[in-house]
Amino acid sequence: MNAFTYHSGVLWAEELPLSEVTADVGTPVYVYSKRQLEANYAAFAEPFRDLAPDIFFANKVNPSLAVLQTLAACGAGAEVTSAGELERAIHAGVAPGCITFSGVGKRRDELTAAVLAGLAQITVESLEEMAMLSEVAAELGRPASIVVRLNPDVDAQTHAKLSTGHKETKFGIEEAHLDEAVHLARTLPGLVFKGLMVHVGSLLTDFSPFRVAYQRLADHVRRLQKAGLSVDRVDLGGGVGIPYDGQTMPPFSDYVDLVQEIIAPLGCKIAFEPGRRLVGDAGILVTRVVRVKRGATRTFVVLDAGMNDLMRPALYGARHTLMPVRLPPSTGAEESRATERVDVVGPVCETADLFGEAYELPSPRPGDLMAFLQAGAYGAGMASCYNGRPLVPEVLVDGSSYAVTRRRISVAEQMTWESMAR
Ligand code: LLP
Repeated sequence: MNAFTYHSGVLWAEELPLSEVTADVGTPVYVYSKRQLEANYAAFAEPFRDLAPDIFFANKVNPSLAVLQTLAACGAGAEVTSAGELERAIHAGVAPGCITFSGVGKRRDELTAAVLAGLAQITVESLEEMAMLSEVAAELGRPASIVVRLNPDVDAQTHAKLSTGHKETKFGIEEAHLDEAVHLARTLPGLVFKGLMVHVGSLLTDFSPFRVAYQRLADHVRRLQKAGLSVDRVDLGGGVGIPYDGQTMPPFSDYVDLVQEIIAPLGCKIAFEPGRRLVGDAGILVTRVVRVKRGATRTFVVLDAGMNDLMRPALYGARHTLMPVRLPPSTGAEESRATERVDVVGPVCETADLFGEAYELPSPRPGDLMAFLQAGAYGAGMASCYNGRPLVPEVLVDGSSYAVTRRRISVAEQMTWESMAR
């Protein structure tokens, strides 16, 4: 399904014209489709039904309580990376028994919170963390279920900043230390060894790195099983991409096939930690053209959304599809507009505040509404108030109605978080 479609030349979210949202909430604003979230969850879960996997939604990808709640109602658990995300997941209604906690820098107080909550799984990313977790769990007298994250030394063939599975990255435990890690996991007090985890990176649009990583993981599982160890759980992380602006990628069924081929025969409980795949195309960022600036060599379309609202282009050189909310009529010379090639920028005082060069748009005018697509993943969650800007609001559309699920946080309100020097 595609929740964001044109009707009589106007972009709608489900059964709601976007102009209705912007008339009430203003711009910039993130708009999510509840039905798209539900459809994306079903599209991920259904093909694996016979394996009955655990599906932990990676909360960092979109930490909106309303989004967490929607996915939890579909059956998703949560993958969290901090005590803060844990608190939010529980608040949104995710049971601690359906939560997994990953990250290389879990502090003692965060491990304590996780052990006390009785999480499904804590993903251990180093021998040093394992020692601390053992102390915490033993002191509390509460066993902690753990999986050991393997760093399989695989190049995920994605953006360098999104690659997590090769030796030079901080993530996971390299193969040379795996046996020691498993031994410690099985013998240190307070720990219950459940299995292995792997996550090689994000936004994979070619699945061959998954094949290599999963094969390495499967080889280790079989080796441990042969040695008489029980490996209950195999967590395959997240990372399956979505097509951004005009990209193509293999069908999801190719990913399903490789999991069925390589992982299913191990006979372990399978877990996934999808993020982008569930929410990426379920959200858009709606913004308004402030000004069209005709420079000496370029035309800049200056939007009221900036890099503080959607950081991905500035941080990773990402390119999101940009569509006018109202299409100019294709006929009738008076109103039709020629397409123009423009650079699309935000108002923030940084050259990095560039959404993309050479966007072909129907000659934009001040006041026009535009929408960045594929903005549901790593959009609002990474937004900031940089340059004295209000925190961008979020709206969840359900059919022909919507709810403001995060209001715009004004600068006046932000100042109440601070105090003056004495
Ligand atoms: N599990 C773990 C342990 C992770 O670190 C991540 C993402 C996921 C699951 C979910 O991955 P996904 O299915 O969404 O690819 N801000 C960047 C992406 C950072 C990825 C962080 N880890 C971006 O905007 O592209």
